Amino acid sequence: MGLDKMEAQPLTIRASADQAIVWANDRLYLLDQRILPNEEAYIELQSARDTAGAIRDMVVRGAPAIGITAAFGVVLAARSCFRASPDGWRDLLVDELQALAEARPTAVNLCWALERMQRLFPGIGGADPEPRLLREAQSIHREDIAANRTMGEFGAGLIEATTSVITHCNAGALATGGYGTALGVIRSAHAAGRIGMVYADETRPWLQGSRLTAWELARDRIPVTLLTDGAAASRMAQGGIGWIIVGSDRIAANGDVANKIGTYNLAVAARYHGVKVMVAAPTSTIDMTVRCGKDIPIESRDPAEVLQCGGRWVGAAGVDAWNPVFDVTPAALVDAIVTERGVVLSPDSQKMAELMSR
Ligand code: MRU
Repeated sequence: MGLDKMEAQPLTIRASADQAIVWANDRLYLLDQRILPNEEAYIELQSARDTAGAIRDMVVRGAPAIGITAAFGVVLAARSCFRASPDGWRDLLVDELQALAEARPTAVNLCWALERMQRLFPGIGGADPEPRLLREAQSIHREDIAANRTMGEFGAGLIEATTSVITHCNAGALATGGYGTALGVIRSAHAAGRIGMVYADETRPWLQGSRLTAWELARDRIPVTLLTDGAAASRMAQGGIGWIIVGSDRIAANGDVANKIGTYNLAVAARYHGVKVMVAAPTSTIDMTVRCGKDIPIESRDPAEVLQCGGRWVGAAGVDAWNPVFDVTPAALVDAIVTERGVVLSPDSQKMAELMSR
């Protein structure tokens, strides 16, 4: 069944950013991020194919959240494959894993999580794989929240005096297992009294900033003001912005950072205005097999996403649109990469290798 035909389930769980991915009643539930903040509804998923569809269609988004969701997708796949063939489930799983892996190309957390789940297959022997795989998916989920808490402390420690910050897209609880990467730093810094105002870029075309980041921060009573993406440089020029704080979908071995399209613009403008750039991401987002940003696959989505806004066509008839949904910020424009293993200042290949060997 296509996701568009799938009915959102009645709310049996109270919708919250920290409960965007829920495993309950042997099923996977995703808070439908396409319809937030106007509607709060969960979608129930029973198969890996539907899970891959949910990732592709942005029901769930954000690199760590995609990885966690894919891990639960493997549990669903293993259940159906084991029922179909208790001896041959591993072979049946190959296509399901492929569908999950191909759902979105840039966020490396997706393949990271699938590989971690796959490493368990040989040790499961002839037993039902579901209990073991479920425990692993739940560990991935828990570890991500713990990593975000640690990054929150590390990142907040870099903000010396109370200041205002700009963030882009949504790198919050919704984009992760909970608490958030960039928004985790902002949450911890706010709790320490170091945040004046959070300026959230609206983030065309999916409006993750205005729909999701603003929703999360307003619920936590953290002061937030929206900006159009084009207003960020002007806001920096007015002063009072200490940091740009963003997440990432993939960080290359030399510290180049892929993140939501528009992050690169922010980093260029930040350098001009003397504003520092902080990237908060768990080590599962660091891809040491990719030498530099040029080698990171950048997802291109349907031009219709740009040509429409709020369900209405806004592009002139016959006009096309270019819609790469991530860009690469060179390491030279990044002041700090904050991970759960520690902070890398002015990242380069050597420092990244040292971090990953910890
Ligand atoms: O297209 P999206 O909404 O999945 O893009 C998400 C981002 O670009 C986030 O900034 C990134 O995944 C970091 S999330 C903690």
